[in-house]
This record gives sequence, C-alpha cells and structure tokens, in this order.
Amino acid sequence: MALLSVRDLRVQFATPDGIVDAVSGVSFDLKEGETLAIVGESGSGKSVTNLAYMGLLPKTRTTITGSVVLKTEDGEVDLIGMSVEDLRKIRGKDVAMIFQDPMSALHPYYSIGDQLIEAHQAHNEVAKEVSRDRAIELLALVGVANPDERLKAYPHQFSGGMRQRVMIAMALMNNPKVLIADEPTTALDVTVQAQILKLLRDIQAKFKMAVILITHDLGVVAGAADRVNVMYGGRLVESASVNDLYENPLMPYTVGLLDSIPRMDQGHGKRLRAIPGQPPSLIQLGSGCAFAARCSRKSELPNGKCETSPELKAVSAGHLVRCHLYDSKESVK
Ligand SMILES: Nc1ncnc2c1ncn2[C@@H]1O[C@H](COP(=O)(O)OP(=O)(O)OP(=O)(O)O)[C@@H](O)[C@H]1O
Ligand SMILES: [Mg+2]
Repeated sequence: MALLSVRDLRVQFATPDGIVDAVSGVSFDLKEGETLAIVGESGSGKSVTNLAYMGLLPKTRTTITGSVVLKTEDGEVDLIGMSVEDLRKIRGKDVAMIFQDPMSALHPYYSIGDQLIEAHQAHNEVAKEVSRDRAIELLALVGVANPDERLKAYPHQFSGGMRQRVMIAMALMNNPKVLIADEPTTALDVTVQAQILKLLRDIQAKFKMAVILITHDLGVVAGAADRVNVMYGGRLVESASVNDLYENPLMPYTVGLLDSIPRMDQGHGKRLRAIPGQPPSLIQLGSGCAFAARCSRKSELPNGKCETSPELKAVSAGHLVRCHLYDSKESVK
C-alpha cells in the first residue's frame, strides 16, 4: 500500500462560462520516501490536483470526486470528503505544502519565529520553549545563519531564496510524511533555484519524506525526482521513472516538452522548439485525446482515432502512457 493513493480524482468548477473540467480522472501512487514530479504546461491541472485533497480549493461551485487515501499513524484515511476540521489536523502535520510565493504562506506582520513556533504549537501540546528549539534547529538545517537571532526577523527582511528556506523550515516543523512543493523555485534565479532543489533533495533523504514536486519545467526534474507524472488537459498522460522518461519519452506531448528544454547532451547551438499551439479549453473538453489538436504524430493513426478516448496503459513495468500510438499494450486503468 502506497503512502498516498490517488484514485480517479475529478475536479469541476462551475463558472459563468460553463463547467471547467480541471482534473478528469487522475490516479497515481506516492510511495514512502519517493520524490514524484508532476509536470505539465500552465493550466494542465497540476495545482488543482493537489489542492483538491488538501481541502484548499474554494468550497462553493467546486465538485470533487474520487478518493485520496493517506496512510497515517491512526490508519488509512480518505482525504476526499473529510471534514474541514479533520483535514486541518492533517495539513501541516502529516502533509505540508510549500508554494512558489513564500509570502503567501508567511504573514508579513509576525516575526518568522512567532510563525514557526505557532506552526508547531498548533499540532503539539508542548511548552513554547520546545517549539522554539525546534524552530532554531530547522532554520539551521535549511541554511539560515544565526537562527537564534533570525527568529526575531520579519519575512521582508529575508531575500527571496532565504524566505523560501524559511517556508521549507515551516513546512518541516511537524516532520510531515509528505511534502507538496508547488513550483517552489519558479520565482527564483537559476543559482538559487538549484540550491533550493538540492536542499529539498537533502531534506527528503534525511527525513525519508515523500515529496510531490510540481513544476512546469521538465528541466528541473532530472536531478530532483525519482518518478515523473506528465499532465495535460487535466489528465495524466505519461508516468515513468525519471530515467525512463528522459531516455524513452512516449507521449508526443512529453517529447515536445523535452524538446523545449536545454539539454547538456545535445551540445550548444541546437534551437529549442516550443510545442506549437495552445493548451485546450477545459470547458466541454471532449472525451478524445486532449493533445490531438497539437499532435505531430496524429496522422500516423487512422482518421478519427484520436477523437476517441485513449486509456492510460503500461508499455513496460512502471511506464504508463495515454496515447493510441501504444494501443496494442495492455490497459492498466
Ligand atoms: N477556482 C477556480 N475556478 C475556476 N477554474 C479554476 C479554478 N482554479 C483553477 N481553475 C482552472 O483549472 C485549470 C487547472 O488549473 P491549475 O491551477 O491546476 O493549473 P496548473 O497546471 O497548476 O498551472 P500553472 O503551471 O499555471 O500553475 C485551469 O484551467 C484553471 O484556470
Ligand atoms: Mg499551478
């Protein structure tokens, strides 16, 4: 049994323009201690997939179905349909999240010490001193110098990279089993981005935590994750180990994503190709392949084939793809 098991997750938003199918039947497992990257263009449903089971989507006009079972100390719990109060106990304790913008998680008017201590106190009945010691320990761990002194500082007194480190410390206060990092390095420059990714990797190894790393940039995934889930139009379209995905990408969309990142092994001077066309509208998204309109290999299949729904199939152990080009393989659904 996986640590986190997502099954047939669907999220719909009712909007004035119609129903938005933001997530359309996503299933995946997160194993203990693994780093799973979720990759896809803007609007593919990466954030909504994870916000849905964390109870962080708007409560009205949102329909969430499916199940997301988490292993906790008290047994297995389904996060979908859980009460707000029960979910609050899990959030920040068993599962913690960090975001692109640390200011969305850090309050500008409280010292970071107060905020770190509060994050610990909310889930532990211990003296404040214990929480304070924990805050100092974690600030040191994420690379904040003079943590004792820095507890008194306010978020704006830190650089972007340092703020991100503080947010990581905050996420770790209660030793979560799962850390969801949603574009944690997107707003940072390349050097700081690499440092933060390395920090996440080190922490993951030290605490044997499982990490879900959400990014639109397949380039950051190589050294940072074990497995990759590629999303398109609210669906999972490919899932493989990082090596498998880089060496043998199957879904034409994944191939396009890989072609649009600079790769060391391709030498200099090779022009990067963006995938032509736009991501699909998620309103009245048909049941066919959502990528068909942009797919360069559509003509290899019989006419009309891509307007029928491809299923997620295993082409080899642990390598799944949703594409009619691989229809001869057995369905895993
Ligand atoms: N509250 C909402 N109401 C209506 N539509 C929404 C809402 N939240 C998200 N969406 C839509 O759901 C789709 C998926 O959004 P999501 O934020 O998951 O994309 P993403 O893959 O995380 O993109 P990005 O890389 O830009 O963060 C998008 O089309 C978005 O506009
Ligand atoms: Mg997002």
